Amino acid sequence: MGNPPIRVRVGPKPYPVHVGRGLLARLPRLLASRAPGRRAVVITDARLARSLGARVARSLRAAGWRVDAAALPQGERAKSLAALVHLYGFLIDRRTERRTPLVAVGGGTVGDAAGFAAATYFRGIPLVHVPTTLLAQVDSAIGGKTAVNHPLVKNAIGAFYQPVLVVADIDALASLPQPELAAGMAEVVKYALVFDRSFARWLDSSWRQAVELRQTAALIRLVRHCVRLKAAAAADDEKDLFGRRELLNFGHTFGHALEAATGYRRFRHGEAVAWGMRVAVELSKGRGWLTERSERTLAEALLRRLPSPSWPRGLRRGALLAGLAGDKKVAGARNVFILLRGLGRPVRVRDVSRRELLRAIARTLKQARRP
Ligand SMILES: NC(=O)c1ccc[n+]([C@@H]2O[C@H](COP(=O)([O-])OP(=O)(O)OC[C@H]3O[C@@H](n4cnc5c(N)ncnc54)[C@H](O)[C@@H]3O)[C@@H](O)[C@H]2O)c1
Ligand SMILES: [Zn+2]
Repeated sequence: MGNPPIRVRVGPKPYPVHVGRGLLARLPRLLASRAPGRRAVVITDARLARSLGARVARSLRAAGWRVDAAALPQGERAKSLAALVHLYGFLIDRRTERRTPLVAVGGGTVGDAAGFAAATYFRGIPLVHVPTTLLAQVDSAIGGKTAVNHPLVKNAIGAFYQPVLVVADIDALASLPQPELAAGMAEVVKYALVFDRSFARWLDSSWRQAVELRQTAALIRLVRHCVRLKAAAAADDEKDLFGRRELLNFGHTFGHALEAATGYRRFRHGEAVAWGMRVAVELSKGRGWLTERSERTLAEALLRRLPSPSWPRGLRRGALLAGLAGDKKVAGARNVFILLRGLGRPVRVRDVSRRELLRAIARTLKQARRP
């Protein structure tokens, strides 16, 4: 039925990513072919426990599976060491065995935390991602990064651990609040600007159908395309060592700094990344890149479509620069920035000076104030 799964070739074993409608109902069959044993642990968050989490558990039970289900706290608190200890306790208490798959139903926070638990419990049990936010469907469920936060550093404790199966049901996005969908779109725009000019054009012309009207066909096409782009970037750089995967950090050097400087409270990740991409575009222009008018206009049009909370008044330069110093992509003394020579032509630079950056920020804010 529908589209064939996308094969992701990252890590030891390729795995299928199913993108489509009505997939939650088909989950028992999809899971049976990847994890024998008819037993599963479903992990979700407090907000989804009675909706999507319960639906997944119910459909597995109806197909004869024995299911243990637990909910992590909602949002970033799912990724705390305390929540993780709790989850290990749950797995031990239910005598979860080495072959029992852990099914993570939720956004990136559930996927990251449950993924890390799956990677480490008994040195690794099978992991299945059922991403339910746009961000998780196009980004975090693909490529095998899992992590929890340390009180001092976000994502500080983690592992590369690939799932055996990813099931992205577009119907699950129906209940997603609009700001969450919009935050996910930041990563979608990122893929378009960094990797794919024709996708950028499609995105600009299909925005209304996909984002405002949430038309299924447009969303399926969008998610599938992003899964392919993410899979390709991660494919020969699983552990983020050779630079290909690093290109996905476009907008993130500055985005992370902005998140850190505002205590991870003011911006959703995607909202901070949207600001980061605007700054990266200004940095690129400042270097005499991204000169072709149609490309620049398209990039700026896509970035304008992303809503972001306004720039925090009184945000200190010092706090931003401290945030940059703490970004883990620092190589030597300087941050690595991904900039654009053109649409779909990223470059990695590490010689952005403080002055250059401050000027780009100033130009970004000026642009943002324009009607
Ligand atoms: N592993 C990776 O490669 C990777 C990549 C990008 C981001 N991340 C991580 O992902 C996390 C952010 O993920 P997120 O944006 O999905 O946030 P999230 O998991 O916190 O989800 C956002 C909110 O939406 C709710 N929600 C989820 N699905 C819903 C649905 N279908 N209907 C209604 N509500 C729903 C959640 O309960 C939550 O309140 C961050 O911790 C980030 O570090 C990881
Ligand atoms: Zn991101």
